[in-house]
Amino acid sequence: MAVAPRATREDLSLRLASFGPQHAGAVAAWAPTPEALRWLAPSTSFPLTADSVCAWQRPHTRAFVLMTRGGAGPLGYGELNPMRADPLHFWLGHIVVDPRLRGRGLGLALVKRLLDVARFDHRATRVSLIVFPENRGAIRCYESAGFDRAGDELHRFAASDPPMLLQRYEWRP
Ligand SMILES: CC(C)(COP(=O)(O)OP(=O)(O)OC[C@H]1O[C@@H](n2cnc3c(N)ncnc32)[C@H](O)[C@@H]1OP(=O)(O)O)[C@@H](O)C(=O)NCCC(=O)NCCS
Repeated sequence: MAVAPRATREDLSLRLASFGPQHAGAVAAWAPTPEALRWLAPSTSFPLTADSVCAWQRPHTRAFVLMTRGGAGPLGYGELNPMRADPLHFWLGHIVVDPRLRGRGLGLALVKRLLDVARFDHRATRVSLIVFPENRGAIRCYESAGFDRAGDELHRFAASDPPMLLQRYEWRP
């Protein structure tokens, strides 16, 4: 199992690496129940598998795993997707930390590093995400990273499902 120290705002022992198929099995194990998968990926059918994590990768998706500099991990996973209408506007997707390592600052470290990639590698002027209103831990994590509430949105994730209300958050450099 990955051993990760508590992260701090200046923690240099963590880094992002490009996601590869070798990471997919570990990420798939981080949403072990339908409820956990609903918060992470409401459009993905349960159970989450390595194949479904690989299927999240679209041609323009930049997917990353959080690792220690010593090579331990993956500890977390997240995606940056450019919006079709504006290549400087990115969408943050599928943010997740290994459940055994939550509450140690790794989610915040992951999101902050993804924002650095958006800002410094892609000159992003805006990063957005959506989150279920009851996902208080994720909302706190996004707020700590500098995201602001930008309204509510109705989403229908399957034709047979009723529309659900999600909160939209935005970050600007
Ligand atoms: C959301 C998630 C990535 C956060 O990762 P984490 O490593 O536990 O978060 P951190 O330890 O970095 O905490 C960041 C902040 O959120 C707060 N927080 C984290 N989990 C919390 C919880 N369950 N309840 C309340 N606050 C919480 C922390 O106290 C911290 O606040 P602070 O910055 O004011 O000190 C993780 O909980 C996760 O993987 N959740 C399941 C997948 C998911 O729901 N993803 C979001 C999809 S939109």
